[in-house]
Amino acid sequence: MQRLIITLDGPAGSGKSTVARRLAGLLGLEFLDTGAMYRGLSARCVERGIDPVAEDYAVVELARNSEMRFDWTQDPPRLHVGGVDVTDRLRDSDVTGQVSEVSAISGVRQVMVREQRRMGEEHPRLVTEGRDQGSIVFPHAGVKFYLDAAPAVRAKRRAQQLRDAGKTVDLEEVRQRITERDRKDSNRKFGPLICPEDAQRIDTSDMTLDQVVDMLEAEVKQAVGAAL
Ligand code: DC
Repeated sequence: MQRLIITLDGPAGSGKSTVARRLAGLLGLEFLDTGAMYRGLSARCVERGIDPVAEDYAVVELARNSEMRFDWTQDPPRLHVGGVDVTDRLRDSDVTGQVSEVSAISGVRQVMVREQRRMGEEHPRLVTEGRDQGSIVFPHAGVKFYLDAAPAVRAKRRAQQLRDAGKTVDLEEVRQRITERDRKDSNRKFGPLICPEDAQRIDTSDMTLDQVVDMLEAEVKQAVGAAL
């Protein structure tokens, strides 16, 4: 079976998780949510009372010693970190609140990049989404996208996602947290959020989810139709 990696990078709330999952389903590819991996590690830090700013060495140690395993038989796949199913914790505010700090640690990124490449070997037909998938993890991916949207639109989408998950939401607070996370994700030294030079940049502010998915599906078919 021919290898095909499609990367989707972009800031929080750009819609990339939902789009990546739908696109993978339509094209018959698997789906890798790399943000979930950083969130999963953040959840284990909260559980153990590890402060990612003051104790970065402890976070790296935890990352090195915790097997990251997705259960690909579930949709969306459930995530186990060090044998613990953390899936239901991934979007909780304490976990989200420190995930930028966790993901800024160089040793953590080294472990994650290695794990993601390993998953790319085991699952060679993949739509993968994150911040560094097209730039660092899979620089030779078959097709690369960068999804963006205006901050106000992204905040609204993220708030809706949280409401759908049954959480109480203050829109202004979500907006502030997204802006702050963007700033940290874009300015960190290792694996910052960037649009790879060879990625197609798409502003989804005025597009519906269906329109974005349709557009990406058409682009992929045009670029690598023979590999599908
Ligand atoms: O996409 P998300 O909101 O689930 O990502 C959670 C955090 O993880 C986000 O603040 C940035 C970080 N992240 C990263 O640094 N690199 C990735 N490939 C994916 C996510």
